[in-house]
Amino acid sequence: MANERTLSILKPDATARNITGKINTKFEAAGLRIVAQRRVHLARSEAEQFYAIHKGKAFFNDLCAFMSSAPVVVQVLEGANAIAKNREVMGATDPKQAAPGTIRAEFGLSIDQNTVHGSDSATTAAQEIAFFFRETEILS
Ligand code: RTP
Ligand code: MG
Repeated sequence: MANERTLSILKPDATARNITGKINTKFEAAGLRIVAQRRVHLARSEAEQFYAIHKGKAFFNDLCAFMSSAPVVVQVLEGANAIAKNREVMGATDPKQAAPGTIRAEFGLSIDQNTVHGSDSATTAAQEIAFFFRETEILS
């Protein structure tokens, strides 16, 4: 299995409820290592840049407003098949559809306030990690 890195974000609903530790416990229990981590309050323009792939979609404005509404925690997770593994641990986008035991099933409040973001491919993982971290800030 390929050792990979993926970009994870604990969204504003996670920092607001002080549950970042509970979420990190889920990652570590699944074999994912937190090899970089920083708390940051995104500017609206940074959220728009990060989610540029969704520009023009009906949910884009609400998404960017929410992601810049309060601090988030940005992280790099590392491990075997980390990109797919993280998506599995996160659960489906809509918490109502998320499998039992997943982060979004346990902690998600709504499709907007769904607690975590995770890269969806090797290409986006590389781009998203570089958006937030220099290589020297990632310590395996
Ligand atoms: P994320 O990017 O945050 O990890 O979530 P995802 O891959 O599961 O979902 P994606 O399709 O990339 O959408 C990004 C975020 O936009 C919000 N969304 N709302 N109302 C809607 O139909 C809708 N669809 C997506 C969600 O908050 C989603 O996480
Ligand atoms: Mg996505």
